[in-house]
Amino acid sequence: MKVLVATEKPFAKAAVNGIREIVEKNGHELALLEKYTDASQLLEAVADADALIVRSDKVTAAVVEAAKKLKIVVRAGAGYDNLDLAACTAHNVVAMNTPGQNSNAVAELAIGMMIYMSRNQFTPGTGRELKGKTVGIHAYGNVGRLVAMIAKNGFGMNVIAFDPFVPAEKMAADGVKAVGSIEELYAGADFLSLHIPATEQTKNSIGYKLVSSMPKGACLVNTARKEVINEEELIQVLAEREDLKYVTDIAAVRMDEMKEKFGARVFATPKKQGAETAEANINAGLAAASQICDFFATGNRRFQVNK
Ligand code: 3PG
Repeated sequence: MKVLVATEKPFAKAAVNGIREIVEKNGHELALLEKYTDASQLLEAVADADALIVRSDKVTAAVVEAAKKLKIVVRAGAGYDNLDLAACTAHNVVAMNTPGQNSNAVAELAIGMMIYMSRNQFTPGTGRELKGKTVGIHAYGNVGRLVAMIAKNGFGMNVIAFDPFVPAEKMAADGVKAVGSIEELYAGADFLSLHIPATEQTKNSIGYKLVSSMPKGACLVNTARKEVINEEELIQVLAEREDLKYVTDIAAVRMDEMKEKFGARVFATPKKQGAETAEANINAGLAAASQICDFFATGNRRFQVNK
């Protein structure tokens, strides 16, 4: 079988070597398409691929249609909003992600962003410490839980969280207080760390009402997806509340305007960096390769997301 790794933002070399080793050891062939600049290159490359590994690369209906032999696509990472699941299902393509594999990298970045903003982006002037502040975790999945643990155990922060899918007892066992509503979460968070996926329900869901309820001097930290933010409303809140800050790993569509209006109160990484560590690349890339080989060998569909 031919396994194509198509990554506009390539994996670390060690991860690619590891993927190759797993694929070849299992009797398959590896093809690489890295740093491509046009979707047409992906359309061409998938034509004879039996399996596909991607990162945030868009696997559209056109890609699935062009991949006549495709049986499985694995998003090496957590969020799979870049995969057209309906198209995969329609073409009998199994779609998977690799949950948890890059979580630590994203969690560390979220904490780093809190420090960066609390220390005025490392420019001269008096900053603030994380110790004793409250961090609100919006969605207590793999990344959210790690942020909670680092914040609590490493920095002495208070942690509150909201996740309708995680029992309060599970959070309590971690020393995290489950709050009863999303409103309560935002109103109590000096730092709000976003970990919700981008779905039809969550897109544009973080806006004026929630952000304007945050305490004085609060900071919204987005290592999730830009789509969950209602930019229009965020801009409105930041204009009204000169004490609030926004830091994001996924630049807003209107980031330039935000930088112009709010200066050092906003910051965006130039390119999404959450999962950009050698460790995360290796964990997620190798997991993707193993899941594909296992699927071909035994039919294992454990991480299928288009069920
Ligand atoms: C994820 O959903 O796993 C992260 O957003 C990482 O995305 P990336 O692989 O494009 O860096």
